[in-house]
Amino acid sequence: MTKSSQSYPMSGGDGQHSYIHHSSYQKAAIDGAEEKTRQCILENLDVLNLNPDLSTFTIADFGCSIGPNTFHVVQAIIDTVKMKYKQVKENNEVSSLMPLEFQVFFNDQSNNDFNTLFKTQPPSSEREYFLVGVPGSFYGRVLPRNSIHIGHTSYTTHWLSKIPEHVGDKKSPAWNKNNIICNNSIEEVTNAYKVQFIKDMKVFLEARAEEIVPGGLMIVLGQCLPDGIPFFKTWQGIVVDTIGDCLMDMAKSGLTTEEKIGLFNIPVYFPQFSELRREIEKNRSFTIETMENVRHPLEDIPLSHDFMISMFRAILSTIIKEHFGECVIDELFDRVASQLVKYPIDIKKCEKDMNFFILLKRK
Ligand SMILES: C[S@@+](CC[C@H](N)C(=O)[O-])C[C@H]1O[C@@H](n2cnc3c(N)ncnc32)[C@H](O)[C@@H]1O
Repeated sequence: MTKSSQSYPMSGGDGQHSYIHHSSYQKAAIDGAEEKTRQCILENLDVLNLNPDLSTFTIADFGCSIGPNTFHVVQAIIDTVKMKYKQVKENNEVSSLMPLEFQVFFNDQSNNDFNTLFKTQPPSSEREYFLVGVPGSFYGRVLPRNSIHIGHTSYTTHWLSKIPEHVGDKKSPAWNKNNIICNNSIEEVTNAYKVQFIKDMKVFLEARAEEIVPGGLMIVLGQCLPDGIPFFKTWQGIVVDTIGDCLMDMAKSGLTTEEKIGLFNIPVYFPQFSELRREIEKNRSFTIETMENVRHPLEDIPLSHDFMISMFRAILSTIIKEHFGECVIDELFDRVASQLVKYPIDIKKCEKDMNFFILLKRK
């Protein structure tokens, strides 16, 4: 498979299954970290050490998808930067600062639905920034050297650049059998995913280190696992494993084949918290100003099965369609719904995943 084909954006458009309508779980996590983000920017953005003649402040959101979360995040960052500049001026820390304009770079894979992103941007009367779409994988440079003051990414770095080697190879001990994701039930599979994750995290941080100006900030929000907790014990792991089980049922009815399922793997890996920390610490271009577990505002709320299924449908339809064909999607998610009626997920009895907030500062 070519590299460019290993790109599986969220469901686009503004139809009923679009990410636009089913990204409130990620939005809740972003909202939950908003105060932390604000505080961290106020404490760590060293306005006086940025270019004193700075007139254009640049922000990039890596893996922005199609909204609305990205627009929300960007506006919150801009409000905080303005607040910081106001504080600096009020404290007379500097005689004059240029009035600021903001430019925002929205990055995602080139097959992301940028048309929907642009169509749903805030109206120009409310938007305080100029925007640019930046197609391309963030596992590599997508922006000029030293061009970004604040980088942001949320719920993206668990997407690997490619499916790890051997997990689709029946003859390998790392064959993922009928699982469709790394659910941590087979050690060799976990190791294969881990190897790819380590490579990708290195490349991600090296690329951002080139793009972000000295003193600039990189905010990384996302999902990982507490140490020692396998993905299959979390409610998200149970939903994805149920999707895999339903594909197997569909194979029995002749709607797909076991052969195809054996070759199907989602390039998503949730590292354990300490593993994530280790990989971030290896990069010497950034200091870690903050790295902590943040509470997900919905973590103790009994989510409906409809909510869970719609969320995963918006996230996984692209990759499922590519492998099995569009015709399986409705049937598959109907089966998942019936299966969850038979075997309901009690979130309180599941292990909790973990949401993290990281603030890095470019040395
Ligand atoms: C779950 S969505 C998160 C979207 C948004 N950041 C949010 O918090 O709602 C993950 C996004 O990461 C993007 N993504 C995954 N791998 C990527 C890569 N290598 N380069 C750029 N974007 C990537 C996907 O296309 C998708 O839009």
